[in-house]
Amino acid sequence: NGLHAKMVAKGRYYFGTAVDQNTLSQSVISNIVKEEFGMLTPENSMKWESTQPSRGQWRLDGGDYLVNYAQQNGKHVRGHTLLWHSQLPGWVSQINDAATLTQVLENHVTTLVTRWKGKIQHWDVANEVFEDNGQYRNSVFYRLLGERSIEIAFRAAAKADPNCKLYLNDYNLDYTSSKLTNFIALVNRLKAAGVPIHGVGTQSHLMVGNGAIPTFKNPLQMLHDTGLDVAITELDIRMKMPSDNSKVQQQSRDFQTVVKACLDLPRCVGITVWGVSDKDSWVPSTFQGEGDALLWNNNYQKKEAYTAVANALA
Ligand code: G3I
Repeated sequence: NGLHAKMVAKGRYYFGTAVDQNTLSQSVISNIVKEEFGMLTPENSMKWESTQPSRGQWRLDGGDYLVNYAQQNGKHVRGHTLLWHSQLPGWVSQINDAATLTQVLENHVTTLVTRWKGKIQHWDVANEVFEDNGQYRNSVFYRLLGERSIEIAFRAAAKADPNCKLYLNDYNLDYTSSKLTNFIALVNRLKAAGVPIHGVGTQSHLMVGNGAIPTFKNPLQMLHDTGLDVAITELDIRMKMPSDNSKVQQQSRDFQTVVKACLDLPRCVGITVWGVSDKDSWVPSTFQGEGDALLWNNNYQKKEAYTAVANALA
């Protein structure tokens, strides 16, 4: 009766986490995953630099590992991610004509989506296309193809697996901002143009005690108003280390606020936390002096934040 079962009992699709072979192959983690989570996102193995490090050279074994694990254990999968400026190999960034890039993008999307057709229920088709100021990110895709790059990726994905739910995903959509406004405007343009988009993903990498968390419901409602499915795709709530009792209590309240905001909106289909334990989280290596962002501690024991989430789902 883990988090996923509770979420399903609430009429939602899933509660998930981010893993890959390096974590899933550890029995302590695998046991938690089997008990608690119903949706798996590959933390790194389906990214461009992992899957097509040089042109036409495919390395799909990491993705295969995760998908096979999911099949054997009855888990859903959120593919992550097809069109992203980061972890993009140099050979793609160096392309300098639109026709070649279109063909490379279509081929990349088609190859990955076809490989796991029917076994991946949601794909993050495009990730982080906006800068924090709400302008388009100056990636090779935007420079050569403009907004059409997004449409190309969604159309190729839908063609390769017409039953998969296709998502536009981004971060810092947790408060009202020009980024959130422009993200929603893009979603509405894509819908109006008949582009096959089914969901919006808000990553939600948050900080304990952040002043925007109590009103987290508002931006989520704005995403929900697009009429698409909404998913919280990479939730974690980090703190300045060392931890203390008041931070632990605040973190529990913050996790509850986010979970309740999702449950308040009928089309919030699921929540994914970005990793199982604090030991495996991306946070400490990225934010100096911060950590403890997840639901299990360094010793793979459930934290108070876990209990808070479980109670919010009860
Ligand atoms: O696998 C290589 C290894 O061979 C090499 O020796 C080592 C040395 O640097 O790097 C290893 O790759 C690392 C990879 O994680 C796998 O562990 C990369 O350096 C490291 O940069 C990479 O970090 C990932 C990060 O995305 C990259 O942008 C994190 O694990 C992953 O949690 C993080 O996830 C992102 C989402 O995809 C998008 N949203 C934000 C989120 C957090 O940054």
